[in-house]
Amino acid sequence: MNQGRTARASIEHAKEHERVIREGLARLYPSLTNPHWLVLKGRREIFQRWIADIPGEQLYVLDIGGRIQPYRPLLKDRVKAYVGVDLSVSSSLDVLARGEELPFRPGQFDLAFCTQVLQYVPEPAMVISEIFRVLKPGGHFLLSVPSAYPIDTGEECWRFLPGALRHLLAPFSRVQIEPEVGSICGFFRTTNACLNIFAKYGWLRSILRYTAFPVLNLGGALLQRMSGSSNAQFAVNYSVLARK
Ligand SMILES: C[S@@+](CC[C@H](N)C(=O)[O-])C[C@H]1O[C@@H](n2cnc3c(N)ncnc32)[C@H](O)[C@@H]1O
Repeated sequence: MNQGRTARASIEHAKEHERVIREGLARLYPSLTNPHWLVLKGRREIFQRWIADIPGEQLYVLDIGGRIQPYRPLLKDRVKAYVGVDLSVSSSLDVLARGEELPFRPGQFDLAFCTQVLQYVPEPAMVISEIFRVLKPGGHFLLSVPSAYPIDTGEECWRFLPGALRHLLAPFSRVQIEPEVGSICGFFRTTNACLNIFAKYGWLRSILRYTAFPVLNLGGALLQRMSGSSNAQFAVNYSVLARK
């Protein structure tokens, strides 16, 4: 009886784990039908480039808001330990804690991720100061934040501009901020995001997924490239690399 229950629980856990992995991969390698394809693709390309330049193998890695860990596969076999911290439980989670109060000793990690989390945190400076504390000297921090996006949930607090990011990351010795897309792609991504919100019915979203979303994704990418514009006033999302 008990064995049957244990077996069912481990099957459920394995299924949930598979679902979380799939969700992460869908963010890392988004389909063209994803309304956020432009920023997700931009972020992956930036992170791939930065991670290739981060020295060391056998890395101790921390992921704040790590319920899903989309960027973990980019590290390939360079991970000694990967610790996911989040407020909500998932099969990938290691530690249930707030980013504002990390239960770790100072100088434990080589690399920290915090992607698409700080907009939900009332005091983002507290999370950044905790990340700074738990990083080793010379450790790296990879951050991704929205600068323009419709309100997602009632719990959201912020959008971030480069000036605020430089201010928040002032304790770090080197900070590099890159727009995940230029203004043209930013406009097309925002149109997709708004359509996705306005389409209240599942069937309508399914139609958009195979019509408007891929057309706007490809149209934005093509126009951005053909225009040669480097304007980033409407960048909509930023990636940041900071070194302690
Ligand atoms: C939009 S998801 C981002 C997930 C993943 N990092 C990514 O890039 O796809 C935001 C996550 O941040 C978590 N989160 C929000 N506030 C947090 C806090 N103060 N400390 C730790 N995690 C938090 C949420 O529970 C959620 O799992």
